[in-house]
Amino acid sequence: MADLDDIKEGKDFGLDNPARNEPFFLKGSNALDWGMQNRLARIFNPESGRTVMLAFDHGYFQGPTTGIERMDLAIPPLIPHADVLMCTRGALRSCISPTANKPIVLRSSAGQSILSELSNELVAVDIEDAIRLNAAAITAQVYIGAEYEHKSIANVVKLIDTGSRYGIPTLAVTGVGADMVRDARYFGLATRIAAEIGAHYVKSYFIEEGFEKVVAGCPVPIVIAGGKKLPEGEALDMAYRAVDQGASGVDMGRNIFQSDCPVAMIQAVGAVVHRNVGTDKALQMYHDLKSDMGM
Ligand code: 5RP
Repeated sequence: MADLDDIKEGKDFGLDNPARNEPFFLKGSNALDWGMQNRLARIFNPESGRTVMLAFDHGYFQGPTTGIERMDLAIPPLIPHADVLMCTRGALRSCISPTANKPIVLRSSAGQSILSELSNELVAVDIEDAIRLNAAAITAQVYIGAEYEHKSIANVVKLIDTGSRYGIPTLAVTGVGADMVRDARYFGLATRIAAEIGAHYVKSYFIEEGFEKVVAGCPVPIVIAGGKKLPEGEALDMAYRAVDQGASGVDMGRNIFQSDCPVAMIQAVGAVVHRNVGTDKALQMYHDLKSDMGM
């Protein structure tokens, strides 16, 4: 039983200090519940407001993609330098140590392959399993304008509704069908739809013209996918221009794990994203780290 003797009356109520009432640091996320904000604050660094997500979920429809044929070998050296890991539950349980202690954005859709129609996805993880895996967020694609647009939107709506019950945010990934034009109009449409259905943040591709407008028109944070492998300098430049134009970070896969030196590349990307290091300096950093590793 609690000791009730000698209970002292409170004296220091800090009457000169107004109660703390700080706005949450992420765009469009002020009205979310504590658990949701706490998970988002694990995904996005509260100091920079940005994130470096390492995406290695490609195998769920592509099989053993170059660079991650052996996830158990390729991913662990990158983990200390990533803010977040984005992967499937299969990859997580089989290849990633629970002691890694990084927030997980759980790929929660499947149902298609590179041999079939990519937009024909379904929700492929039960919310209970996402909770068991301590997911910081769950994710699926919206395929705007594709054959199964309606179904893909329904998948993301389902994730948002079930995740919201437990304070787990949803990342909506804008999946682009082969015949879609990758321009500001398309990504403006896709990212806005994703935010309006309730996604807590959205992944888009960077585009040369009008990316700033895509970000401005989306009321929640946008992170960019890396896309196909580019020379390191070009990938760093893309990351620089994306954050400079308002992106809240990257969700990058191939441009990291297919780099000649993935451990150096992820650190250079981190310098761009969190410290606004310019492209030339970041590329030099990449080369220096690579040569320090004897490569
Ligand atoms: C696949 C994804 C990938 O995670 C995403 O495309 C990021 O990887 P990359 O930088 O290689 O494009 O969402 O659907």
